[in-house]
Amino acid sequence: MKNIILTGDRPTGKLHIGHYVGSLKRRVELQNSGKFDKIYVMIADAQALTDNFDNPDKVRANITEVALDYLACGLDPQKSTIFIQSYVQELTELTFYYMNLVTLSRLERNPTVKTELKMRNFENSIPMGFLTYPVSQAADITAFKATTVPVGEDQLPMLEQAREIVRSFNGLYGETLVEPKAVLPDNKSCLRLPGTDGMAKMSKSLGNCIYLSDSADEIKRKVMGMYTDPNHIKVTDPGDTKNNPTFIYLDAFSTEEHFKAYLPEYACLDELKAHYEAGGLGDMKVKKFLNAVMQETLEPIRTRREALEKDLPAIWDMLYKGSEEARAVAAETLSEVKKAMKIDYFADRK
Ligand code: TRP
Repeated sequence: MKNIILTGDRPTGKLHIGHYVGSLKRRVELQNSGKFDKIYVMIADAQALTDNFDNPDKVRANITEVALDYLACGLDPQKSTIFIQSYVQELTELTFYYMNLVTLSRLERNPTVKTELKMRNFENSIPMGFLTYPVSQAADITAFKATTVPVGEDQLPMLEQAREIVRSFNGLYGETLVEPKAVLPDNKSCLRLPGTDGMAKMSKSLGNCIYLSDSADEIKRKVMGMYTDPNHIKVTDPGDTKNNPTFIYLDAFSTEEHFKAYLPEYACLDELKAHYEAGGLGDMKVKKFLNAVMQETLEPIRTRREALEKDLPAIWDMLYKGSEEARAVAAETLSEVKKAMKIDYFADRK
């Protein structure tokens, strides 16, 4: 069997460092590992519309933002097919057939959907499109016969849903679809990077994100203003590193090379943490180091992004090529699906 990756993001904003450590960085590593036969990276505009249907301008504007972020981080259109979800209309057709295999109560039990419903205050007026997006996500994954889906932790329920649909489809209509598995970051701190304000998640509406496109000054301002341990008041106070976002970011981003270059009095992060926990290490010093680490990490991404931004027509060309290619693959799977379901009436007339 081939090793195939499919993953993607909703184009509802620029991508931030939570996306980077949670999934993007891993994708680039997998892309460059040479271990995959095909890699598909999808800009999920149709899914973004399930809760932004009243704001199509926002979704459209963010297609290029996400594409720029992808290329800036090292996704390479020569190695990965980057495409726009809505262009591949076969995905909506697959979704329609998969909906027969999923119950309403199963969708309502999906923990990620549950949290999102609460956040969006839909109360009793849940749009059907929103509630069923996990089914469309199963279509995205299976259309490309993906075996591997590198995603953040919040996407695990979607993968479980997709696997159930595959099993149910194959059981009813014969072996047709491939069961995918999720790949999460190994580093625990990368699973869900908290916001700069210490809130559980980075989110545009909370204003607690560091974006991949942020300027050096913005990064510095955000890092220096970060929430730390509220009980670490005097430098001599013992501090907490576990729920302290500055240390969680250092877990996710810092290397021993960073210590050698910017904070040579400590060999590694464990030593810095031990000092903070014992007392006697000020937040300022930690933040200055974190700022140096973030600047070094984000500078090359930002520079590439700025160069790519100068030629947006080239970005659209790349997306068009990728979308055409993706569509041909999805069409192939759709005909297999229709054959398995015995609705391939005119297949022989083509
Ligand atoms: N739900 C993902 C997100 O919110 C985007 C997405 C859509 C996706 N379809 C997918 C991710 C298929 C992985 C596989 O970012």
